[in-house]
Amino acid sequence: MTRLEDKNAVEMRGITKRFGNFTANDQIDFDLKKGEIHALLGENGAGKSTLMNILYGLYTPTEGEIFINGEEVKITNPNVAIAKGLGMVHQHFMLVSPFRVYENIILGVEPTKGMTIDRKKARAEVEDLSKRYGLQVDPDAYIANISVGMQQRVEILKALYRGADILIFDEPTAVLTPQEIDEFIEIVNNLADQGKSIIIITHKLKEIKAMADRCTVIRRGKKIATVDVEDTSTEDLAQMMVGRQVELTMDKEEKEPGDLVLEIKDLTYTDERKVKKVNNLSLDLHYGEILGIAGVDGNGQSELLELLTGLRHVDSGQILLKGKNIANCRPREIQEAGMNNIPEDRQKRGLVLDFTVAENLILENYGHEPYSKKGILQEDYIQNQAIELMEKFDVRPRKPHYKAGDLSGGNQQKVIIAREITDDPDVLIAAQPTRGLDVGAIEYVHHFLLEQRNRGKAVLLISFELDEILNLSDRVAVIYEGQINYITKRKDTDERQLGYYMAGGGQDGRE
Ligand SMILES: Nc1ncnc2c1ncn2[C@@H]1O[C@H](COP(=O)(O)OP(=O)(O)OP(=O)(O)O)[C@@H](O)[C@H]1O
Ligand SMILES: [Mg+2]
Repeated sequence: MTRLEDKNAVEMRGITKRFGNFTANDQIDFDLKKGEIHALLGENGAGKSTLMNILYGLYTPTEGEIFINGEEVKITNPNVAIAKGLGMVHQHFMLVSPFRVYENIILGVEPTKGMTIDRKKARAEVEDLSKRYGLQVDPDAYIANISVGMQQRVEILKALYRGADILIFDEPTAVLTPQEIDEFIEIVNNLADQGKSIIIITHKLKEIKAMADRCTVIRRGKKIATVDVEDTSTEDLAQMMVGRQVELTMDKEEKEPGDLVLEIKDLTYTDERKVKKVNNLSLDLHYGEILGIAGVDGNGQSELLELLTGLRHVDSGQILLKGKNIANCRPREIQEAGMNNIPEDRQKRGLVLDFTVAENLILENYGHEPYSKKGILQEDYIQNQAIELMEKFDVRPRKPHYKAGDLSGGNQQKVIIAREITDDPDVLIAAQPTRGLDVGAIEYVHHFLLEQRNRGKAVLLISFELDEILNLSDRVAVIYEGQINYITKRKDTDERQLGYYMAGGGQDGRE
């Protein structure tokens, strides 16, 4: 911790934020030292984003004071925050897709030459910054064509270009692949070495251990503690955050899989740009097993998922569910045939943010009994059902009439998961099922997936989290360039071996 100075870059004192009669932040004290990497940890809905949105001027606190570099400031909007040297990278990037990288970075603060924008100067400044902080970007590329990792670097450069010394990241790694996460950790360390002060919200305890100096834990709107990360184990962090012991790994009994339930045969899909995203892919799934699909993002996982769930048309090949070909059937028919999914892109396909939680929970079933009878919605039944599901999945606050858009990110995820698995499907496809969830909620979802398997149901788990795959799966397949590059029993493999195949290993000797 040698780079830490003993001066505070940020000090928040007694911050309280109420939404109506709900208290999202309750008398929170928080400080960030100059040059520090400070993690903010807490369950879904604990109040982390709220606290940081207050610091960045997106919300005004109901009570409390904020000091930046020792000076008290009223941060009434983000422009004030930026002027005080703050920068924030949100989980959902706010870039303009049809623009180039460097145009996005200078947007709104363009250098000018007479009446026109000095593009040459702008480009040079961007290149300079990117070199200085080791943030590799292609200044001329269009946002629409670059990876999520690079988009994030663009967001960071945008903040640095505006002179930020204090950077706030809200769940920066939730959307990154393991490789990109390693790069991100390096970037953050580099920024801190150059004197920047950094706040990171994350649910991933391993990341906190890998990069943070201190960690502040928030539970239900209250600050629990600020600890030195070096002296605190991941188990302790989890316990502080949830208030009870959490199982970070699952115990799983060996089990013989049952009969074949899903048979994917020579599946092929070519996208708009004529790229074979799914290339003659074959895979079997049995009752009573969890089959994990590991792979680096962009190797056909999303397309495979969309083919299986009826959101895209296959070029050729078959998807046999209990012997019946469901390729090119409509999503509804596939569900009725016994296969459901936890969708990957839960912002786009997940919730209607303007609808209540109860409405969202019955989104696909409201036309049926018992939710409606003779065309009349059964409000009492729906409310009770909603409360039961919210309890089971610990959706907070337990208010079925709340607008889905007012729930915290993680609680929105829980609503979708609760909805998708109530039908008790024979085959459940779980795509990135724990992205954005806190460790307590992850424990619940993992338990649930194992329970499905133990009851003889089949689970296809698609995840970028190798830990998750290794923890849960009976068999593991690696997808690479639209094909299954490797498949094995879980007990016969490990992280290193899977990493090798995820990077395309073993391809040379083929054919
Ligand atoms: N605009 C709003 N109106 C009403 N309630 C809100 C609003 N914004 C947030 N809340 C509530 O405040 C609480 C804290 O939300 P916040 O987004 O800060 O949680 P979080 O710790 O970031 O959770 P997550 O890890 O799930 O992102 C939640 O219960 C949420 O429902
Ligand atoms: Mg949040």
